[in-house]
This record gives sequence, structure tokens and C-alpha cells, in this order.
Amino acid sequence: MARKLTFDIFRYNPQDSQSKPHTDTFHLDETDSMTIYIALNKIREEQDPSLQFDFCCRAGICGACAMVINGRPGLACKTLAKELPDHITLMPLPVFKLVGDLSVDTGTWFRAMNEKVGSWIHTDKTFDPTALEERMDNDRAEEIYELERCVECGCCVASCGTANMHEDFLGAAALNRIARFMLDPRDERKNKEYFEVIGTDEGIFGCMGLLACEDVCPKELPLQDQLGVLRRKMGWTAVKKLFRRG
Ligand code: SF4
Ligand code: SF4
Ligand code: FES
Repeated sequence: MARKLTFDIFRYNPQDSQSKPHTDTFHLDETDSMTIYIALNKIREEQDPSLQFDFCCRAGICGACAMVINGRPGLACKTLAKELPDHITLMPLPVFKLVGDLSVDTGTWFRAMNEKVGSWIHTDKTFDPTALEERMDNDRAEEIYELERCVECGCCVASCGTANMHEDFLGAAALNRIARFMLDPRDERKNKEYFEVIGTDEGIFGCMGLLACEDVCPKELPLQDQLGVLRRKMGWTAVKKLFRRG
């Protein structure tokens, strides 16, 4: 027999001065392969058209539907109701600006982050649109592609103790971006230039290393390895700087 699901959903419209943060409860019959995204759509269509949440691809690709599902950041479209108890609590991701209910503005945060870490190839070469693309070693290209899979959903940032306490903390997604460009032979930045961006308490030295970020990443990015690599590289750069000063 199909389970009856109870959803406790955070509600608040920061645009409306009368609105107060509260929880609304909805009941639904579980259907086969029901995801949290499908459940939310059903609630919006049948019970409350004012419910706000984000989605775009419905396939774990755009990162828009991230929210806190029973206390854990995750993608609504990738989370099956059958993996959860029959009482489900949905909250918006912390750290990001709340748009309303379960919808948050991750775009502004990620744009600022990408600007802070210089998330593009830095080179003095002049771009020649007629030239053949430079060849890259296959293994290196695979390593870069692995880190490029980030969908900027914000789950790692929302789960991060440091990011929740310090709004300037770059977070695992930013550190992963830096690790990606450090691997790229086309990027001419030196370690000391990366150090200026992430060799601070807002960067790698603010990371407590408890790895909630990797636990919740829906794309299973190897964040732990990247944080380890950066910590070692930046540690050496810091030591070299100290000796130069002495
Ligand atoms: S390991 Fe670092 S980046 Fe990841 S959640 Fe912990 S403090 Fe945040
Ligand atoms: S690293 Fe993973 S959890 Fe973090 S934004 Fe990218 S895909 Fe989402
Ligand atoms: S709707 Fe795109 S990741 Fe869920």
C-alpha cells in the first residue's frame, strides 16, 4: 500500500512585510519513483500554487533544485521519497540569499566567487580564432573534466560549518575551481598568485577539513583530494614566503 507522506515545508516571503517565517504541512500519497521535485510540483499544482522552489533540468544537471532535505543539503530532483521516512522536512539552503520559501539565489554567490578566484584561463597569449586548438594530454584532460562537473548547486557551501559562520569563506566549490585551473597547462598563473587568492583564512586555511562538502556533493566530486592537494601546495608556498622574509 502506498505510504502517506507528510511534508513540513519552510515558508517565508522576504518581499512581503506581513510574511513571517513558519512551516506549512502538506500530505501526499507516495507514487512510484516519486522524487522530492515531483512531490513539490504536486503540492504546488494541487494544494498551494504560491509555493516557491527552483528547478530547470529535472535531471541533476542544472543544480537549481538544491535544498535541505531532512537536514541534509541535496537535489530535490535526484532524491527519491522512498529513500526517506514518511515525514519529510524541507528547508532552503542556508548561506545564500533567500528568494522565498525553498528558493535561494545561488547565482549571485557563484558569480562573485568565480570573480574572486579568477575562474578563467589566465594567459598572456593573444587568442587566435583561426589557430588549431592546442592539444592536451588525455589523462590531464580527464582530470580537469572530473573537476569541471560541478553544477554550482551550493550543497557543499550550505553544509560547510565555516561558510555558515563566515560569509567571506570561499568554500569547497571555489577551492575546487582553483584546483581545476592549477591542473590546466594553459593557465600561466604561478603558485604564489593562487596563494594570494586562497592562502588565507577565507580560503584553504579556514577549512576545518571535516568534509561535509564531499559527503553531500550530488555530483560526487573528489573535494577531499582537492582540499588536500591545495593545503599541501599552499602550505609550502607559505613556508617559502616565511623563509624569504627571514
Ligand atoms: S572540509 Fe572545508 S570546505 Fe568542506 S565542509 Fe569542511 S570546512 Fe567546508
Ligand atoms: S562541488 Fe558539488 S556540492 Fe559543491 S556546488 Fe559543485 S556540484 Fe554542488
Ligand atoms: S532541477 Fe536541475 S538539478 Fe534538479
